[in-house]
Parts: sequence; C-alpha cells; structure tokens
Amino acid sequence: MRFDILTLFPNMFASPFQESILGKAITKGLIQVRVINIREFSLEPHRVVDDAPYGGGAGMVMKVEPIARAIEWIKSEDPSAWTIYLTPQGKTLNQEIAQHLSTRPHLVLLCGRYEGVDERVRELFIDEEISIGDYILTGGEFAAMVLVDVISRLLPGVLGSDRSALEDSFSQSLLEYPQYTRPANFRGHFVPEILLSGNHSAISRWRRREALKRTYLRRPDLLGKANLSQEDLILLEEIQKEVGKE
Ligand code: ADE
Repeated sequence: MRFDILTLFPNMFASPFQESILGKAITKGLIQVRVINIREFSLEPHRVVDDAPYGGGAGMVMKVEPIARAIEWIKSEDPSAWTIYLTPQGKTLNQEIAQHLSTRPHLVLLCGRYEGVDERVRELFIDEEISIGDYILTGGEFAAMVLVDVISRLLPGVLGSDRSALEDSFSQSLLEYPQYTRPANFRGHFVPEILLSGNHSAISRWRRREALKRTYLRRPDLLGKANLSQEDLILLEEIQKEVGKE
C-alpha cells in the first residue's frame, strides 16, 4: 500500500514513520510513505503557496496551482490514486472508514494549513474529505499521521503474527478487558486470581465479561452495534444488576 502525503511541512513526518510498527512496515516494504513538499510544485518566485482570501478576511488560503500540479504529477504515475483532504469539515474517521480505505492500494493525503485550501482544489482534485474528530488542529499533518497509522495496522503482516487487528475492541464493537503483567502484587493491588489459574476457558469467560462491563460503563452506545451471543446478554443482565447495587 502506498501513501503520498502532500504538505508544506515535510519535516513533521521525519520520526513518526521511523519508529516501531510503522518503521518496520516500511522497512519490510509492506507500506510505502512518500512525503511531498507542495512548495516544490509552485512556479512562482520564492515558491509562494498561499495568498490572501478573495473578499477579505483574516489569514491565508492555500493556492490551487501548486496543489493541482502535485496531484496531477502523482496521477500521471497512477491514475487510480485516491485523493483525501484532511479537514474538520470531512467525514469523521472511524474503524469502518479505516477498513474501507485500507482496501485502496494508493492514497494521496492532502494536509491543509492556514484557512484551508482554495475551494477549487476540493471541486477538481479531491475524492474524499476526512476529519479525525470534532476539534481543530493546527493543520492536517497530525490527521494524516493518524490516518496512515490506523490504516497501516489493518494491512496483512503489519502487526505481528500473534496480534490480529480483527481482535481489536472496535472491530468487535466492545472495549477491551483489563490487562495485567508482573508483579502479581503491586503495593497491595493484586492481579485478579483467575488470570493466574491457568484455566483458559475460565479466563476467556472472565475477559468477555470484563469487556462487556467496561463497554456498558464507558461506551453503552457501542453495545447496540456489537454482535452479542445469548450468553453475553445473560452476562450483561448480571452486570446491570451488579452495577446498580454499587
Ligand atoms: N485539520 C484541522 N483539524 C482537523 C481535524 N480535526 N481533522 C482533520 N484535519 C484537520
């Protein structure tokens, strides 16, 4: 899978893609990330990339020509590249959107700055607009990093073989159960006995119950979407009674 990131601040991407899981995915050739400086596509003196808005008002607007030239250059290599503009005005990213985007072999991520891009960029060159949440970032760069991260971990081979993205809490619409590691006793706070029992089916049941409880307490809205068995529904009833008493 290929990501082309169009930005005015390419240095922002230096380290996030060198470390850990993404770093390994790039080394192994599972993903390819190219960071492209939009400024290099400006033909103006001093490589100008922004200008004052028509009609007046504060701030600057990213000009259409350098972005057009950059996207046309990418499309001349690969006409099927899918272009995404990161903006708070886009569809809010969730696991389902990430899953869908992970099936596309080539994404172009345009990072906005200042007051955003000239509207004709959207009309002529953008296939989809994505927001990473209802808050305003200083620009689209962090949003692009989030998008690359969320999508990459869904691709085959990117997570270790012992770890499947299918087991993620959000792909099952439940939050994850609590995790513990050594020591078994930290300042009088003990790891639940059952996790030390070696009884794998009892541990699985406990984990399922804790996942249901956590979801019920923190994100009850997710329960409606979850694939719940008859046993889960019985557990949930128990949890509701238990929580009611607390
Ligand atoms: N640019 C600024 N804020 C953003 C957000 N919340 N999502 C995506 N891009 C953005």
